[in-house]
Amino acid sequence: MPLVSMRQLLDEAAKGGYGVGAFNVNNMEQIQAIVAAAVETKSPVIIQASRGARKYAEDRYLFHLILAASELHPEIPIAMHQDHGNSYETCKSAIELGYTSVMMDGSLKDDGKTPATFEENVAVTKKVVEFAHARGVTVEGEIGVLGGVEDGHGAGGTGLEHVTDPDQAVEFAERTGVDALAIAIGTSHGAYKFTKKPDGSVLKMDLLIKIHNRLPHTHLVMHGSSSVPKDLQDIINQYGGKLRQTWGVPVEEIQLGIKNGVRKVNVDTDNRLAMTGAIRKVFAEQPEKFDPRDYLKPAREAMQKVVALRMTQFGQAGHAGDYKPLAITEFIKGYASGALDTRPSVAKK
Ligand code: G3H
Ligand code: 13P
Ligand code: ZN
Repeated sequence: MPLVSMRQLLDEAAKGGYGVGAFNVNNMEQIQAIVAAAVETKSPVIIQASRGARKYAEDRYLFHLILAASELHPEIPIAMHQDHGNSYETCKSAIELGYTSVMMDGSLKDDGKTPATFEENVAVTKKVVEFAHARGVTVEGEIGVLGGVEDGHGAGGTGLEHVTDPDQAVEFAERTGVDALAIAIGTSHGAYKFTKKPDGSVLKMDLLIKIHNRLPHTHLVMHGSSSVPKDLQDIINQYGGKLRQTWGVPVEEIQLGIKNGVRKVNVDTDNRLAMTGAIRKVFAEQPEKFDPRDYLKPAREAMQKVVALRMTQFGQAGHAGDYKPLAITEFIKGYASGALDTRPSVAKK
């Protein structure tokens, strides 16, 4: 199966009332872990690469590895997504490579650190939407700013400094025509999201519900959605790691989000923790081992387990065969005719 439009995956998820995990990758083992989990649970899936991932693995390696996954598993709808594009040029290069979806994160300036103004965000996102939709490619935008910093990307802070304003979200959707919208509701990237199990004072699910009610036709995206389970933290610390105790986003809150318009759920940190724990265990218990396969295989299996669990929890499990993937050319037509227009003033139920 060729790579699929992310818009199709999200439209189908909206019809079915489930969410789709978007998992970050940097190398072959992570791609294999995700695809193995998708095959195991019969799930459609979004595989995403950050700018850092594209640089680390080199564009063509990563692109062809993801393409290989879709060739080997034609039964699994796979969308290939640029995570946190920082500029028009980054998104354009992903589209030219063959990504079927891009995120233009215009909530930050192109340094990936400084919060941008609303007008700057609208302008750059609109430009990306025009380029992408003419090629049948899906666009995710972001309004409000997440907390934390990952690999140099992010404004830092707790995640509560720039939560999304619902009026701005509506205006942003109207002026840009994005297919999906990431909103800031108090979450952060990375392992250190909350210092205790989050309640409504730090994780603003009420705000998410408010935005969904105002924008029922825009697919919402939850970034920073790792749950940072204690058992994964414990394995790392048990085998010599040094993680401070921390809390992520409880799965039941993500499920509440999915009931209220969240269709894409971004997870990276949980998989990083799972792989690192498995590798540390081999190093600690079998110090005589030196073949990378001896620790990468358990790492891949540990990540598969986490991804399969999330796929079941997000509800995408069992939905891989529900629909026939449409050619990207169908999306070029759909955007051009207005049939796929999500702007609140024109979108219909
Ligand atoms: O949004 C951040 C993702 O976790 C990717 O992080 O930039 O370190 O690859 P990265
Ligand atoms: P986590 O750090 O919570 O896994 O978030 C990943 C993410 O939002 C990638 O865009
Ligand atoms: Zn993110």
